[in-house]
Order: sequence, then C-alpha cells, then structure tokens
Amino acid sequence: MTANYGMNKSILKNNSPTRPVVLIGMMGAGKTSVGRALAGLMSVPFFDSDAEIEAAAGRRVADIFSDCGEAKFRRLEKYAIIRLLGGNACVLSVGGGAFMDEATRAVIKEKALSVWLKVDKEILLERVLRTDSRPFLNGENPKEKFETLLSEREPVYALADLTVCCDGVPIIENAQKIMDALQGALNSQTA
Ligand code: S3P
Repeated sequence: MTANYGMNKSILKNNSPTRPVVLIGMMGAGKTSVGRALAGLMSVPFFDSDAEIEAAAGRRVADIFSDCGEAKFRRLEKYAIIRLLGGNACVLSVGGGAFMDEATRAVIKEKALSVWLKVDKEILLERVLRTDSRPFLNGENPKEKFETLLSEREPVYALADLTVCCDGVPIIENAQKIMDALQGALNSQTA
C-alpha cells in the first residue's frame, strides 16, 4: 500500500468513512465488485458512475460512446460524479478514464478519498479481453490499445490518495485490504 493523502484528512470513524471513498483504476480491476463489498463492510451506500450515467441517459455506455463520442461521455461522467460526491459518505466506483479528466480528478481530490485498485497487467488483460463491452477495446489490436492506455494512465492513477494492490484474490479480501489501508492511514495520522 502507498499513500499520498494529506495529514489533515480524517478517514474512518467506527469503520465508516467520513467522506466518500472513490475507487479508481483500469477496466477489469474489479472496481464495481470490490466497491460493493467495501460499501457493505463500511455500511455506506454504493454507487457506480457508469451505472448512474446509463440510468440517467437511458442508454448503455458503449452506445453513448459510439453515438455521441468520448467527449460527451466524459461530460456526463463528470456531472454524475459531481452529483454523487455532493451527498453523504459512500463508496463510488468510477470508470477507468474518469480520473484522467483533469476537472473530474480535481472534484474527486477535493470531495473524496481516492483509492487506486492496482492490478497486474496480465490479470487485467485476461479479464477485459473476455468481453466486448469496452468501447475502447472494440477496434483492431485491443491488447496493444490496452497496453498503451495502461502506460498513459498509471502515472495519473498514482496520484490517488491511496494505492492498494488487488491482484487476483477473492473480492471480499480485496475489500478488506482497502479497509485495512484506510485504517492504516488513520492510524498513521493519530500515531
Ligand atoms: C472506460 C472504462 C469503462 C467505462 C467506459 C470508459 C475507460 O468503465 O467508463 O467504457 O475509459 O477506461 P470500467 O473501468 O468500469 O470498465
């Protein structure tokens, strides 16, 4: 685990976060499944930005990408995240490109505690190449495209408040690892 959080941020109180926790990371990292389990451990609501966008637009993310383009999707994503971070503490999983958008990243940094779910490249590739639901990977050479995206994104993901390695263990263990990392962050503030 590595941490970039500011020392003035309080993180957990009685195992619940005092601010929203935002899970970031590459497609296939398990943000949604781990996020749901983490929200259960913390007894706070769980949200997923892609699901919120789809519900509001009445269309699938892949269709928004193909019909309206990435820029429009990023705007919808930013507004969904601003709305979701405007309320009480929760766990929010965001799409793999959300933290790459400067304005969205600034909102996440201001309102939430960000956690990068870092997963080994081979595990990610095996997961994402199994489905065709990722608009970025539907063209030619999806493996190459994925590797390029990963190398562009990793330095930006590393700006998250916490980085937790979530390689291939059961979902609940990854959720517990994040809890422990949040607790460790709290302990290092109070030590
Ligand atoms: C994207 C990741 C997807 C989704 C959209 C764009 C990306 O979410 O937001 O297809 O830019 O990496 P997941 O990370 O949940 O797959």
